[in-house]
Amino acid sequence: MFWEQDFLAKYRQHVFVCINQREPGSPRPSCNADGKSHLQVRFKQAVDAAGLKGSVRVNKAGCLDQCEHGPTVVVYPEAVWYGHVSETDVDEIVASHLVAGCPVQRLLLAEGCINTGSCEHRPPKT
Ligand code: FES
Repeated sequence: MFWEQDFLAKYRQHVFVCINQREPGSPRPSCNADGKSHLQVRFKQAVDAAGLKGSVRVNKAGCLDQCEHGPTVVVYPEAVWYGHVSETDVDEIVASHLVAGCPVQRLLLAEGCINTGSCEHRPPKT
């Protein structure tokens, strides 16, 4: 069946960088408050500089629903979620995770926060 094919054959990994921007005063924060997408651009530069162009794809992402932990980045296919990522973290993520295969532990989102409505950092539903 077609879905059993290796759809990631072209790219070994995809790095999804949230570039969502919300209106000021929104109830949830956004990862790209100034709308300039500096973090995503920085990832593209670092991936290219590491010689990974063609094997690692950096993608812009809309809201990944981890807003309270943003800026948020997720790497697939291994589904490693990073939170509070800044431009100064990018070279470490590229070198440690994307080149050497060791996710950056200090930036990992807690399992109890990922894709769950019970995350203690989310605002209560009204
Ligand atoms: S705005 Fe980035 S995860 Fe929601």
